[in-house]
Amino acid sequence: MRLQPALPADINRLAEVAGANPFSAHWNAPEFLQEINQPCTRVYTVRENNTIIAFISYRVVAPDAELTNFAVFGNCLRRGLGSFVLGESIKELAAQGVKNITLEVNVTNAPAMKLYEKFLFKTVSLRKKFYNNSQDAALMRLNL
Ligand SMILES: CC(C)(COP(=O)(O)OP(=O)(O)OC[C@H]1O[C@@H](n2cnc3c(N)ncnc32)[C@H](O)[C@@H]1OP(=O)(O)O)[C@@H](O)C(=O)NCCC(=O)NCCS
Repeated sequence: MRLQPALPADINRLAEVAGANPFSAHWNAPEFLQEINQPCTRVYTVRENNTIIAFISYRVVAPDAELTNFAVFGNCLRRGLGSFVLGESIKELAAQGVKNITLEVNVTNAPAMKLYEKFLFKTVSLRKKFYNNSQDAALMRLNL
């Protein structure tokens, strides 16, 4: 298993993986293309049999990075993929001079909250009723 940068040819599959998860940002194919083409963004993938099964994306202005989207494909959940993608991407960003990573997560998204805490992200503030004017967002930060 290895982390690979996303390519323009991947955008339809990326939109499919993102769209299959309730808590990921549902970017469509042109939005993924825009992310892939911007110099300040990174989109990393993991593939199985040449098919993307997980991705993560960041906006990077070193020394800061913001995790902007992240999903593991439905039938691949709980196999350690999310941990692999997050861990490897953090190493990659650290090598590029990133010192702080922030992200926003729905506090009702227990799998993601647990995963981020496992990687020592800390909640630094809450945005009340941020999602659908009902669920709070936690702003989390990891200092490398
Ligand atoms: C969050 C997500 C990426 C985790 O991916 P994954 O491949 O299932 O994660 P892993 O198998 O590596 O699990 C890592 C840890 O996450 C937590 N976790 C994952 N799924 C969980 C679940 N259903 N319930 C509780 N904790 C869970 C656990 O702490 C787990 O560690 P453990 O296996 O040692 O208990 C995945 O659930 C997902 O794609 N969710 C939808 C999109 C999303 O929420 N994106 C983040 C938006 S901020």
